[in-house]
Amino acid sequence: MGFLSDTLARVKPSPTIAITNQARELAAEGRDIISLSAGEPDFDTPEHIREAAKAAIDAGHTRYTAVDGIPELKRAICAKFKRDNGLDYKPSQITVGTGGKQILYNALIATLNPGDEVIIPAPYWVSYPDMVLLAGGTPVIVEAGMENGYKISAEQLEAAITPRTKWVILNSPSNPTGAGYTRDDMKKLTDVLMRHPQVWVLTDDIYEHLVFGDFKFVTPAEVEPGLIDRTLTVNGVSKSYAMTGWRIGYAGGPEALIKAMGKVQSQSTSNPTSISQYAALAALNGPQDFIPESRAVFQRRRDLVVSGLNQCEGIECPVPDGAFYVYPSIRGLIGKTSAKGVKITDDAAFATALLDETGVAVVFGAAFGLSPHFRISYATSDEVLQDAIGRIRSFCGGLT
Ligand SMILES: Cc1ncc(COP(=O)(O)O)c(C=O)c1O
Repeated sequence: MGFLSDTLARVKPSPTIAITNQARELAAEGRDIISLSAGEPDFDTPEHIREAAKAAIDAGHTRYTAVDGIPELKRAICAKFKRDNGLDYKPSQITVGTGGKQILYNALIATLNPGDEVIIPAPYWVSYPDMVLLAGGTPVIVEAGMENGYKISAEQLEAAITPRTKWVILNSPSNPTGAGYTRDDMKKLTDVLMRHPQVWVLTDDIYEHLVFGDFKFVTPAEVEPGLIDRTLTVNGVSKSYAMTGWRIGYAGGPEALIKAMGKVQSQSTSNPTSISQYAALAALNGPQDFIPESRAVFQRRRDLVVSGLNQCEGIECPVPDGAFYVYPSIRGLIGKTSAKGVKITDDAAFATALLDETGVAVVFGAAFGLSPHFRISYATSDEVLQDAIGRIRSFCGGLT
C-alpha cells in the first residue's frame, strides 16, 4: 500500500503552474523565454491599497481575525455586491478566504458526498475538475466548442443534469477562453436551472471587471433572483485590483452554506492574512479608477494579440469578451512538422515544440479540456506580446 492517499492519486498538479515553472527554469538557464502562461495582471497593486496595508501593520492589525473575514470587509463586500450586481447579501451571508481558489475549494469540500455530480463546462479553469475530485465528487464535463463561442447551450445543460447533480460551475468571462455569457445566454441557462431545484450554482465571477467593448457582465442570481437561495457568488480582488499575491477571495450565498464553508476554513487555514484583508477593504471601498484603466490596457492588448494570431498560418483566434486570455484553435497545424522535425500531433506537442524552438511558453488546450487549442495570457507588455506573436508567426510559417 502506498503512503499517499487514493484521492490524491486521482488529481493532477496544476498544468499552468507547471508550465510557468518550466519557463522560469529555462529562463534561469539563460534561455530567451517569453512566458505567456501565467494568469495574473502584470500591473502593480494600486498605491492607496499598498498604503492601506502598511497602515494596517502599523495599527497592529497583525493578529488572528474572525475565521471567515473581519466585519468591515464583509460589509464592504455586501456594498460591492449591491453596487455592481444588484444583489442583497447580509454580512452573515459573506465569507472571505485565501483567494477565490480557497473559496471554491471550501464550497466543494463542504457540500460534496461520493457520487455527487458537478457540471463543468469545458474548456474550464484547470482547478475545477481536480477540486471536485479532491472533494470526493464526480466532474461531469460538458464541451463548449469554438463554433458555439465556447459557451454551453441550455439544451446541453438540461441533458447533463441528473438526480445526482449538486452544482453547476459557471465562469464568465472565462479562463481560458475569455468568452462571456450575455444576459440572454445566461437567462436561457437559469431557466433550465429553475426547473431543477436540486442543482446549485457556483458562479466564479473573478473576471467580472475585465470585460471589453459593449459586453455587459451578468451574474446568475442577478439575472434570475429565484436562484439566490441556491447560488454561491464567488469573486475576489486578485484580478480586478492586481492583487494576486495578497490572496483574498470572497463569496455571497445562503447562510447555512456560508457557515459550513467557515467550518472547513476554521479547521484548515483559519483567517486569511489580516493585513491583506485591510488591503482588500481599501480596494473595495476606495477609488475605483484602476478598473477602467486596466480594462482599457487589456482591451488594446487583446486586439493586438487576436489580430496577430489570425495572421499566423493555421491558427484561428476568436475575439474574447473579457479576462486576459485568448484560446485559439490550431486545427490547421495538426499533422505538420516543425523546423526541428517535431510532428505536431496534438496541442501538447505544439506547445512543447513552440517553447523549445522559439522560447514562447503557452498552455496547451488539453489542460483545459478542449483540444486542439492553446491559451495565451496577454497580461504582459505590448512589446513582449509583439515579440511573442512574431515568434509564433515564424514558427507556424516554418511548419511543413
Ligand atoms: C477562473 C478563475 N477562478 C479563480 C481563480 C483564483 O483566483 P484567486 O485565488 O487568486 O482569487 C483564478 C485564478 O487564476 C481563475 O482564473
